[in-house]
Amino acid sequence: MKTMKMLSACLLLLPFISCTQVQDTENDAVIEQKIETLLSRMTLEEKIGQMNQISSYGNIEDMSGLIKKGEVGSILNEVDPVRVNALQRVAMEESRLGIPLLMARDVIHGFKTIFPIPLGQAASFNPQVAEDGARVAAVEASAAGIRWTFAPMIDVARDPRWGRMAEGCGEDTYLTSVMGAAMVKGFQGDSLNHPTSIAACPKHFVGYGAAEGGRDYNSTFIPERRLRNVYLPPFEAAAKAGAATFMTSFNDNDGAPSTGNTFILKDVLRGEWGFDGIVVSDWASVAEMIAHGFAADSKEAAMKAVNAGVDMEMVSYTFVKELPGLIKEGKVKKSAIDDAVRNILRIKFRLGLFDNPYVDEKWIEELYAPSHLEAAKQAAVESAILLKNEKETLPLQSSVKTVAVVGPMANAPYDQLGTWIFDGDKTKTVTPLKAIKELVGDKVQVIYEPGLTYSRDKNMVGVAKAAAAAARADVILAFVGEEAILSGEAHCLADLNLQGAQSELIAALAKTGKPVVTVVMAGRPLTIGKEVELSSAVLYSFHPGTMGGPALADLLWGKAVPSGKTPVTFPKMVGQIPVYYAHNSSGRPATRNEVLLNDIPLEAGQTSLGCTSFYMDAGFDPLYSFGYGLSYTTFKYDNVKLSSANLKKEDVLTVTFDLENTGKYEGTEVAQLYVQDKFASVTRPVRELKRFARVTLKPGEKKNVSFELPISELAFWNIDMVKTVEAGDFALWVAPDSQSGEEVFFKVVD
Ligand code: NOJ
Repeated sequence: MKTMKMLSACLLLLPFISCTQVQDTENDAVIEQKIETLLSRMTLEEKIGQMNQISSYGNIEDMSGLIKKGEVGSILNEVDPVRVNALQRVAMEESRLGIPLLMARDVIHGFKTIFPIPLGQAASFNPQVAEDGARVAAVEASAAGIRWTFAPMIDVARDPRWGRMAEGCGEDTYLTSVMGAAMVKGFQGDSLNHPTSIAACPKHFVGYGAAEGGRDYNSTFIPERRLRNVYLPPFEAAAKAGAATFMTSFNDNDGAPSTGNTFILKDVLRGEWGFDGIVVSDWASVAEMIAHGFAADSKEAAMKAVNAGVDMEMVSYTFVKELPGLIKEGKVKKSAIDDAVRNILRIKFRLGLFDNPYVDEKWIEELYAPSHLEAAKQAAVESAILLKNEKETLPLQSSVKTVAVVGPMANAPYDQLGTWIFDGDKTKTVTPLKAIKELVGDKVQVIYEPGLTYSRDKNMVGVAKAAAAAARADVILAFVGEEAILSGEAHCLADLNLQGAQSELIAALAKTGKPVVTVVMAGRPLTIGKEVELSSAVLYSFHPGTMGGPALADLLWGKAVPSGKTPVTFPKMVGQIPVYYAHNSSGRPATRNEVLLNDIPLEAGQTSLGCTSFYMDAGFDPLYSFGYGLSYTTFKYDNVKLSSANLKKEDVLTVTFDLENTGKYEGTEVAQLYVQDKFASVTRPVRELKRFARVTLKPGEKKNVSFELPISELAFWNIDMVKTVEAGDFALWVAPDSQSGEEVFFKVVD
């Protein structure tokens, strides 16, 4: 009852979704004392039981035997509140010590109300979008009794072949850090102790996104400096934001699987960052160390995982089976078990589970609450990226009387939700087709002829039919992309062209001579250069979730103005991968005047093309670089000023500039601040994003915008593997994307 009252009070405060959290009633010292008291009463088997996470199965009775004996600390994948309470009752009332279970689920971009996939949220460059999305997810998931989500996924990912790029925030360390921390805040609220707060679990620790060849579960080779400069910072930011738990990754980096990697789990996470929460393995990743050839059997796997610092094992049962023997043999110390159990109990206490383990069994009506749907729609609006808009094709004007809605994604309620939507309900999805019809009413005639029924469909008869129907329209809206199943875990691709006959569809539509507006809904950047050429306008919407339809309809008709920017580089062709903006300076950078394949003279001399870093068939530039995105209006950057051109390491640099809306529409620009450390003890990236801001301006309006950048944030892991700011010359750009802007300079002095 108490839970429901607080929950309703919280929900009443939505539209802006942050709730006044109740304060933690117990301070850390009291919790630590409780942990020690409880620990002193626990048998070894009960301690090991806390370290065991099982996946929900069968009837309550099937699981209750283990729970009664204290052999389960956490259950994942149980989302029925009645069953959650029944299981919790067994733990609280029938186990010897009454330790509550921690109920977990992958709630990645929404529980019921599905927000855009995290990659889409990242395109908004708006941490509030990420925080709101996570808060809505937490409110809805906690109503089912879930108090732990395996999110945010903050693996920096620079290879779109990797299907899991969809789940993260893209290629950039800083953007991922900001968005990831915002998600942690949204999931956990102001206090973990609140019944709508769910523990976050930044994952996958660490380096998983750098899988060789973009193939999931593959090995990574990330040397320590790159690990520290590129892959670790988002996790450090999440730890600083108070993330309660961390998950180890599946990959082995330079030969060490993360689940058995003492350096990352003990030295970095606990030692350097002071993390005191739970480290959980990924699904069976303890036992999988055997397949890696890193452990000979389940005994060695359990030993390596616990000794490296894993507190809880997800579903592979080696801890329960092997730890008693390992302790007897002295291969795992009792103190290691005690430490792991302390970490687990600490989070259970902080979540308030001992006092309030149950959930109200009436599913709350607020699932899919109007305020949740509105927030999801706004997120989808802000996530969409306008890649092309020739002759102001968009927004559609009142002169457009007939539109053809074409393509397999126009009315694909399941697929527009994207990956990881275990609990989302496709019947609640509003598709573009439905939203467009609602928006235009009888003012515009809508011809719907999908042509292809799903993204892999190769039905050329359908293509011809769609083209014939589309020829009757003033404008063609072609919704293409990827089905949800084509991205996400284990769903990697070696070919990033549009699947099925979608390219043929766009080509046939273009042949009609009517303007084609291509809207792509996908889980990754696709190599759509050809389709862009054939289209008058292109909107890219990483799978936009439940409210993707209304968001896109508003954008197409100008009720909303696009403001998203690419959170990841779009390659022209797969062979360019990895292609990302923050690459290190080459000794022979491309000049962009290189001679390409078709212009090479016969029997050209060996060095006649110039010896620079480029592909003869793809040049150097990607299709779209990081941070790119257009608006219906235009913006002018001017008058960039630095507070000083000589700064000390402890100073804060203030960068000011004028941003003016020079077009016809009110719009929001994501202004970006990049820095380059020109000369250092190691080669540094050509640019790194350091700040961004969304600035909304009316037509003709000009604002003076400022960024504050502490010089300490220019620190990096240098040649001596020390994190430091090195004195010297720096370049800085204030720009609409990672490739433009006027360079200005400053110096850092000792
Ligand atoms: C495996 C995935 O790698 C991880 O992200 C997920 O949280 C777990 N399975 C649990 O479902």
